[in-house]
Amino acid sequence: MEGEGVSEHFKAERDGAVLVLTLNRPEKKNAITDAMYAAFADALDEAGRDSAVRAVLIRAEGDSFSAGNDIGEFAAVATGARRAETMAVARLIRALATAEKPLVAAVRGQAVGIGTTMLLHCDLVYVAEDARLAAPFADLALTPEAASSLLLPLRIGHPRAFAMFALGEALDGRAAAALGLANAALPAAEVDARAREAAQALARRPTGALIQTKRLMRDAEAIWTVIEAEAGVFYQRLQSPEAREAFTAFAERRPPDFTKLD
Ligand code: COA
Repeated sequence: MEGEGVSEHFKAERDGAVLVLTLNRPEKKNAITDAMYAAFADALDEAGRDSAVRAVLIRAEGDSFSAGNDIGEFAAVATGARRAETMAVARLIRALATAEKPLVAAVRGQAVGIGTTMLLHCDLVYVAEDARLAAPFADLALTPEAASSLLLPLRIGHPRAFAMFALGEALDGRAAAALGLANAALPAAEVDARAREAAQALARRPTGALIQTKRLMRDAEAIWTVIEAEAGVFYQRLQSPEAREAFTAFAERRPPDFTKLD
């Protein structure tokens, strides 16, 4: 439920001045539900208000960072059982895009959809060499979100970004680091510790200077304008016959067939 902010599948814990946020639904590859989005957004907003928090680490339990939005919950919107505007994903996107304190990510395994696009709002990103970053929106008859239509081509160029969005091409961790989506690609077992160290190193630095640095480096207004434009298209797409076919196919464990749809 939007605004609830509590989920057994999401943990927020303090490690000194670092707030550690953990996606904790490993049996579903950390696919993110509405309750998880709400808890995640609340934790980021609270980190902004709490002067004792000087950096935020985003990590995940299990073998995958995140399989993206829970597709069953998308399906509820596609069938009209739920209004798109009530989805808490919008709150998380806003919280990520407006976070002032530094965000550090530790990514192992699959990072799909928002699992990849949230990284575009993180300030330091450590990935496993064999991580798999993907944003296959068109495969679900959807379109980019979280300002990724602006930020991903800026980082990796239009052709590569388009191939990720439109063809579902994935990047492994080494490619992600080489292309500037991550600071380093490491053996999977080292990723969490390295990211935690980096977050602690940020927490020892003057927070005011870090906040101003981040503000100077990001065109917040442009990012916000894109997020709003993307959301309008995304909500329409979610309710399209193509999207219904994509979500049904996922539930039925078969490939979607878009050829009979206009
Ligand atoms: N939403 C809901 N459930 C999901 C999910 C998602 N996005 N991704 C994975 N799951 C579930 C699977 O249905 C499966 O559930 P089950 O054990 O009850 O059958 C479980 O998580 C494990 O997933 P599985 O597909 O068996 O793992 P895998 O290692 O073979 O593949 C992925 C992992 C992430 C590549 C694959 O699950 C996948 O492609 N998921 C969809 C990703 C996606 O399109 N997300 C939306 C982006 S906008």
